[in-house]
Amino acid sequence: MAFTHVSVMAREVMDFLRPESRKRYLDGTLGGGGHTEQILIHSDPDGQVLGLDLDDEALAAARQRLGGFGGRLVVRQANFAAAAAILSEIGWQAVDGIVLDLGISSHQLESRERGFSFRGEAKLDMRMDRGQALDAYQIVNAFSVSELERILRKYGEEPQARRIALAIASERKMKTIKTTEELAEIVARVKGKGGRDHHPATQTFQALRIAVNQELGNLDRFLEHGYELLQPKGRMVVISFHSLEDRLVKTAFRKWNRDCICAPRMPTCQCGWSRKVKLLTTRPLSPSPGEIEANPRARSAKLRAVERI
Ligand SMILES: C[S@@+](CC[C@H](N)C(=O)[O-])C[C@H]1O[C@@H](n2cnc3c(N)ncnc32)[C@H](O)[C@@H]1O
Repeated sequence: MAFTHVSVMAREVMDFLRPESRKRYLDGTLGGGGHTEQILIHSDPDGQVLGLDLDDEALAAARQRLGGFGGRLVVRQANFAAAAAILSEIGWQAVDGIVLDLGISSHQLESRERGFSFRGEAKLDMRMDRGQALDAYQIVNAFSVSELERILRKYGEEPQARRIALAIASERKMKTIKTTEELAEIVARVKGKGGRDHHPATQTFQALRIAVNQELGNLDRFLEHGYELLQPKGRMVVISFHSLEDRLVKTAFRKWNRDCICAPRMPTCQCGWSRKVKLLTTRPLSPSPGEIEANPRARSAKLRAVERI
């Protein structure tokens, strides 16, 4: 299956990163390589990109698509939360720009055997990194009702989280739940059929995917020290698709932008913190109506950007 994914807010990402020759960039979510391709084109002839992804299939597709750029692209199967270690492994101290385009690609969603989609029958999987032990099958068949409820409510904002968790538990008492289709049917029994463009299992599948891949934990780990990966004047752009992700990015960027992080009641500053970045976006940017029309998957995207001081 050819790799299909339309890069979200690619123009805006380039406007913030302003790629230049001889500079170095980190794409922490390489996917099919759409953003990286733009960076390489705009930083011609000598700009370089380190592209990371957890998904071996995405890396293979990106390598194929971007083979013409030769040594200007370095690719690693790795978690962006471990970007600092990979940069030092390849001998790069810091980079001039970073892009994170969170979540999964259309290709992952549409590759039936990966089990990300409620459309069609596949083993319950949802792992971005296929070497990882935890998959959706284990969560659905082994997690407690309260743990399932918490995942569905928190990551899927599913109002019927408890009823769905109970329905999963009662089904698995009779037989294990093996496929995406079986799970989608259980959710549909609880919630009814849903509208024309909203399947009742949308939130359940999203929640499980976020839990399987520890998406918020990875983002949090990256954001702890992410600014340290940037050269002075280097820029970071993060595109998120979920309010919990955007909140983590907003909170981290605001902290990085502060002169002091002492509690307000402290009479004098004792934190030793100094401002790390300036905010390039005070509010998140959304895709243009034209982009959303052409690529409806972009509709929930929120872009935030900072510049290292
Ligand atoms: C939305 S796609 C990126 C698409 C890419 N920007 C493009 O233009 O083609 C997100 C990609 O990030 C990867 N990913 C998600 N979380 C990751 C993490 N913590 N570390 C590395 N890759 C991750 C996914 O496997 C997926 O391929």
